[in-house]
Amino acid sequence: VTKQDMAGRKVLITLGPTREAFDCVRFWSNPSSGTMGAAIAVAAWLRGAEVTAVCGPVNLWLPEGINRIDVTTAREMFDAASENFPSVDAACFTAAVADYRPANPQQDKFKKEQGGLNVEFKANPDILKTLGSQKTDRQFLIGFAAESSDIEGNCHKKLSAKNLDLIVGNDVTAEGCGFGKATNGVTVVDAKGRSESWPVLPKSEVGWRIWDWMLGL
Ligand code: C5P
Repeated sequence: VTKQDMAGRKVLITLGPTREAFDCVRFWSNPSSGTMGAAIAVAAWLRGAEVTAVCGPVNLWLPEGINRIDVTTAREMFDAASENFPSVDAACFTAAVADYRPANPQQDKFKKEQGGLNVEFKANPDILKTLGSQKTDRQFLIGFAAESSDIEGNCHKKLSAKNLDLIVGNDVTAEGCGFGKATNGVTVVDAKGRSESWPVLPKSEVGWRIWDWMLGL
């Protein structure tokens, strides 16, 4: 039996992409599969935590014991995460949130016209940053950073900009890492100044190790 070393803790995970509509049939999104976030959610659940997972549109299974909230847009994810955040002991934000949304989505399918197409975008809320600013001393907050260069430098910047306790950086251009893969190679940086790069590992193991790190802090 797995040690129930997260029993009595409530955790919140965001996972997957978000979709932002242009019109009734088209959207702006990214290829996030939610695999990393699901691994983190399942690891916490196996270790006895009470888990809420706010899921963007993903095709994945989660055990029934996990409280699953399905959302589509960044603003819906923001609302669900904001509502649940105050009552949790720890939160881990793995979602690949669309930073922008089309400013004027149309109800009707827009028609093809001659020439190109200009779409105006508006910024979406940064969910992690907003909730990081509301974090209390007893809460533990974990973020992710998908980078294509200077992983550790960018992790240090985001750790302080978003008021995190731990950040997990991954090089999206590296072999065995990135969207939809079963493995990930990450560098973890914590607010105590410790950092470590792990080899490419199954995402399930990365998820487990993230909670190990949190419990050790
Ligand atoms: O700033 P950047 O997008 O690189 O930060 C990534 C981290 O912030 C991830 O943990 C991601 O889930 C979170 N994030 C968020 N809301 C956004 C953008 C990113 O929660 N709008």
